[in-house]
Amino acid sequence: MISFVWAEDKNHVIGKNGKLPWKLPNDMKFFKKVTSGHPIIMGRKTFESFPNGPLPGRENIVITRNNDFSYPGVTVIQDINELNMDPNKNYCVIGGAQIFKLYSDIVDKLFVTKIDHEFTGDTFMVDLPWQKFELVSRIEGKVDEQNLWAHSFEEYERK
Ligand SMILES: NC(=O)c1ccc[n+]([C@@H]2O[C@H](COP(=O)([O-])OP(=O)(O)OC[C@H]3O[C@@H](n4cnc5c(N)ncnc54)[C@H](OP(=O)(O)O)[C@@H]3O)[C@@H](O)[C@H]2O)c1
Repeated sequence: MISFVWAEDKNHVIGKNGKLPWKLPNDMKFFKKVTSGHPIIMGRKTFESFPNGPLPGRENIVITRNNDFSYPGVTVIQDINELNMDPNKNYCVIGGAQIFKLYSDIVDKLFVTKIDHEFTGDTFMVDLPWQKFELVSRIEGKVDEQNLWAHSFEEYERK
């Protein structure tokens, strides 16, 4: 199974200058809960946005065209077809936009955090075949002094 896990603002912004445009600890917790124990697939730029290297408790798979790229504890692939996907595993594609695009026709589940705010950004979520998905869960996040914007956690499954 392939799941997408991402957060976006009202205009589908997902990134700015190689980083997330916001600080939203509730979303970090949600991300950890959804992805822990599962392989995560990401683009080289998203990997390089992590301050401490690979995320623990998950197989980190990085896609790059650079044959020389390597990092301890990371599985590196140059093409998505290189990955021998185990049908019993839930592969979490965690971005960025370039990598979501590669999997958008075959993704099974969507976990999106919708942030009710307009940020400036330079990277946007790709178009998805939304008509083929149905909402199965929606949870409102808690706004507080650490989590300044209204946000909700939505989960969709392929119909
Ligand atoms: N809000 C969210 O949920 C979320 C999630 C993830 C990322 N982001 C943000 O999104 C931004 C990064 O996204 P991005 O779209 O610019 O970059 P990205 O998808 O993370 O990485 C792009 C890189 O992936 C590699 N790549 C792309 N297509 C490939 C292919 N077909 N075959 C082999 N390698 C391929 C290339 O690496 P090489 O150049 O090394 O060849 C390319 O430069 C950052 O700002 C990040 O913080 C946000």
